Amino acid sequence: MTNKQRKLRSAQWFGNADKNGFMYRSWMKNQGIPDHAFDGRPIIGICNTWSELTPCNAHFRKLAEHVKRGVFEAGGFPVEFPVFSNGESNLRPTAMFTRNLASMDVEESIRGNPIDAVVLLVGCDKTTPALLMGAASCDVPAIVVSGGPMLNGKHQGRDIGSGTVVWQLSEQVKAGKITLHEFMSAEAGMSRSAGTCNTMGTASTMACMAEALGVTLPHNAAIPAVDSRRYVLAHLSGMRIVEMALDDVRLSKLLTREAFENAIRVNAAIGGSTNAAIHLKAIAGRIGVELQLDDWTTIGRGTPTLVDLQPSGRYLMEEFYYAGGLPAVLRRLGEAGLLPHPDALTANGHTLWENSQAAPIYNDEVIRPLEKPLVPDGGLCVLRGNLAPNGAVLKPSAATPSLLKHRGRAVVFENFDDYKKRIADPELEVDASSVLVMKNCGPKGYPGMAEVGNMGLPPKLLAQGVTDMVRVSDARMSGTAYGTVVLHVAPEARAGGPLAVVRNGDWIELDCEAGRLHIDIDDAEMTARLAEWKQAQARKPGETSGYAQLYVEHVLQADEGCDFDFLVGCRGADVPAHSH
Ligand code: FES
Ligand code: MG
Repeated sequence: MTNKQRKLRSAQWFGNADKNGFMYRSWMKNQGIPDHAFDGRPIIGICNTWSELTPCNAHFRKLAEHVKRGVFEAGGFPVEFPVFSNGESNLRPTAMFTRNLASMDVEESIRGNPIDAVVLLVGCDKTTPALLMGAASCDVPAIVVSGGPMLNGKHQGRDIGSGTVVWQLSEQVKAGKITLHEFMSAEAGMSRSAGTCNTMGTASTMACMAEALGVTLPHNAAIPAVDSRRYVLAHLSGMRIVEMALDDVRLSKLLTREAFENAIRVNAAIGGSTNAAIHLKAIAGRIGVELQLDDWTTIGRGTPTLVDLQPSGRYLMEEFYYAGGLPAVLRRLGEAGLLPHPDALTANGHTLWENSQAAPIYNDEVIRPLEKPLVPDGGLCVLRGNLAPNGAVLKPSAATPSLLKHRGRAVVFENFDDYKKRIADPELEVDASSVLVMKNCGPKGYPGMAEVGNMGLPPKLLAQGVTDMVRVSDARMSGTAYGTVVLHVAPEARAGGPLAVVRNGDWIELDCEAGRLHIDIDDAEMTARLAEWKQAQARKPGETSGYAQLYVEHVLQADEGCDFDFLVGCRGADVPAHSH
């Protein structure tokens, strides 16, 4: 039997001339579907994260229509279905809180339905990892189609970048440099078209990660959302997934250890978001690939950052696409021998290198040559020490070089509310050399691990012209943010990590070169403080009910990808039982 004659998964539903087959087909026919749609052709699920509450994905009904055209053209039968949509801008307490929930929705929707292969429509930050996690746990053939970035923001005659400009302007308001009215007038100009954040934030980073992992067609990451070529890509992806279904090109054939190594290297080259460290770990865990936080040091660290995009650099995603997009970056890396596994297979059936070796590069300012990088030694810096025994991360390309080795006294905030209450207090004992420390913003502590790690600086220091300080927390930060910010401290404070017992005035040492994050107290003092903390915790009331309880009880720490402990792993797509 050749691959093309392989009996597809959907035949278990639609392929039988019996009572069950009748039921599966008959109800589907109420949508006006003809008999021949059930003749054994591939049934292609289109997993849609469309929602008007996820503005970044609000154009996805149109995107899905173009995928369908491609599926029909290639002889498949497309079926679109909705899944939980994680919108970064609206969801409280943070879209991260529901990433795993969305992944469960995706996994069970795919496994339980007559789907042979799936197109994952993703955009806003968490939708990309959530859908890849869910699909990876089923290990069906899958292709990612991203929604694409927004056009460049425009304000007062200049380009402004999603998110990044918010951090910049809000600090200027606090420093008294612009009025609140001027600040708010940038709102409409920042988000003036369909699409995801146009900076190299987490959405663009994860779109680049998907392309580097080989689960998209080339150029998926960068084509603007409103560019007609985005819809061509959706169409072509729809055509290709039909072949992938027939040839059984499952995710496990693409999402190999080699693919993840390529993605880590690419993350350094693009100046990608710190959030990628969490999401790639979670995706790898679902498909059964071993990935450690230290892989970011051994594979990524030291790779030059070539892409000059905000927040690390100057430009936005529009320029990135016009300059050549991700294939151009892959070409640069490959020519320098910096692509770890050029032979990794991708969704179009070609290797990563076949797809990129001749990629045109149109603008050396946006996609810099190796000799003229934005940052010579990019990548994520993984830190360890008695303050973060299981690791923490910092993004050097978005930090102030002179602060990458720093010793300062801790100014401690017990949680984000405490920070908000006291940061503007003129009496706050803090100077530019202090280290701002925030606790209880990790996966369990917030819960959901919100993007609050890039704490705004004390207004009195902003007014003095201070632009950056070392900050340490168990939180995440938006991929659009910047600063000398130590994130993802593990274990988190709420889980009893040493961060929980840092006190005002403790000396903290950050040394990125050495990968060290240290609090200057001896082991005996640390042990005593932790014991005291444990006693105090025992007196606190327990968790709430509902999803929050499930979340807090089962979420893994940042270095483990923040997946739920019971979701790690691939469970395949078999469902022997019928519904009636
Ligand atoms: Fe959705 Fe940035 S808020 S991509
Ligand atoms: Mg974000």
